[in-house]
Amino acid sequence: MAIIWSAALETGHRQIDLQHQELVVLINELTDALEAGREFEALDDVLPRLSSYVLFHFGTEEMLMPGLPAGNTHAAAHCQAHRNFTDRVKALQESAAAGEKLEVGPLADFLKNWLTNHIMNTDRELVALLAHQSPTPR
Ligand SMILES: [Fe+2]
Repeated sequence: MAIIWSAALETGHRQIDLQHQELVVLINELTDALEAGREFEALDDVLPRLSSYVLFHFGTEEMLMPGLPAGNTHAAAHCQAHRNFTDRVKALQESAAAGEKLEVGPLADFLKNWLTNHIMNTDRELVALLAHQSPTPR
């Protein structure tokens, strides 16, 4: 099932939200292709585009981090979460290139769950901290 963009996924930061919408489109495109058995298209076309866009987007967020309040520990944990995800995507590309069989369902669930959890927790916290407010849970 596709990720449906909704207000619950908004952080309130226009640039970040627009980039998240593009990530949702790419993850939906990838998981749709995988779930429909179009594995070659998913891995040869969509995955490299997702991988590049993820790097661009993480870079955008990380460039905002010098605006965080001094002494805040958010940036280190947030950057580590980004590195863990990019490592996972890189490993996925390597196993696809090696012709390994993918577990389509768990992979699709991982991508969808990672993005929605990251947006709703870590990215919302970043935006709240940039505004020097405490994050409000939804
Ligand atoms: Fe992030």
